[in-house]
Amino acid sequence: MALTDFLQNLDELSTAAMAMFSSAGDAAALEAARIEFLGAKSGRLKTTQKQLGGVSKEDRPVAGKQFNETKQKIDAAFKEAQQRLSSSAASPVDKPQGNFDATLPGATFRVGRLHPITQTIEELKDIMGRLGFSVVEGPEIEDNWHNFEALNIPLEHPARDPLDNFYLATAQTSNHDEMLLLRSQTSTVQIRVMEKTPPPVRMISLGRVYRPDTADATHYPMFHQMEGLLIDSHVTMADLKSVLRLFATSYLGSDVHIRFRPSFFPFTEPSVEADYWWNDNWIEFGGAGMVDPNVLQAVGYDPEEVTGFAFGLGVERLCMRRHSITDIRELYKNDVRFLHQF
Ligand code: PHE
Repeated sequence: MALTDFLQNLDELSTAAMAMFSSAGDAAALEAARIEFLGAKSGRLKTTQKQLGGVSKEDRPVAGKQFNETKQKIDAAFKEAQQRLSSSAASPVDKPQGNFDATLPGATFRVGRLHPITQTIEELKDIMGRLGFSVVEGPEIEDNWHNFEALNIPLEHPARDPLDNFYLATAQTSNHDEMLLLRSQTSTVQIRVMEKTPPPVRMISLGRVYRPDTADATHYPMFHQMEGLLIDSHVTMADLKSVLRLFATSYLGSDVHIRFRPSFFPFTEPSVEADYWWNDNWIEFGGAGMVDPNVLQAVGYDPEEVTGFAFGLGVERLCMRRHSITDIRELYKNDVRFLHQF
């Protein structure tokens, strides 16, 4: 083989190897390139080395020297590519990969978003925060004292029926004081806060509640409530009405029609139901009332000293009215075509 042919082969080999190594985008591509050029048995470098034997004796020292230099160059290019890939794997964001082309048009990037209920919760916190209510969290697994007893709901009350609550089987004992359940209302947090805090109190608590309801367009066995509690001296029903009206117009718009309807809850006296007008119907968005003296007593407050109001609003119903969602089940199907609209 003529020296010139051999040198040209070397030249082509080196150009091809450098291109492959520097463009390898990941470890698999680099390994394929390594086998093609540096493979011990039939790599292209090996094949070229064999051609060395066909170069005439007097040309062989020049050819051999050139071969060694090329081999070193290719080895170095391989090591460099190895290093580049391992450091870009460590910081893939700011180290473009070998085949990164900044001029290519970008791929569509789908940004996630908060669930509509989470968005609603954040907005409700904002509105109530402006009215001076701070946010408190409470547990979803509750005992009878916080879910019922302290809220003036005695053992024989139908609201405590096992068919109307998710009692936790593992915690079932003959002693009903120790029985646990998934809380059926966020009013539990009223008790937890008052037990720990001397008056005055001005708090809200947002979270999940559980009731064994059959799911339909307006019911779901799990939903969210916003509980509110304000305790101070001389709090009246007028304060409750003002706060609920202000809240409803802030969230639903100043043109919303709302009404308060007499009702009953064991832990408030008097009690009301708050409705808004939607699609030719009054829809209930929550219950409220003046905290019953029995409840104040149960947490160690003096009903002669302080009064207060409480309310519990359905977060789903507010969210549905805001976004004209007519079936609560849509919120929990996790269909991105639905969720992407909010
Ligand atoms: N806890 C009641 C419910 O879930 C709502 C409510 C809260 C009523 C606070 C009055 C006061 O239906």
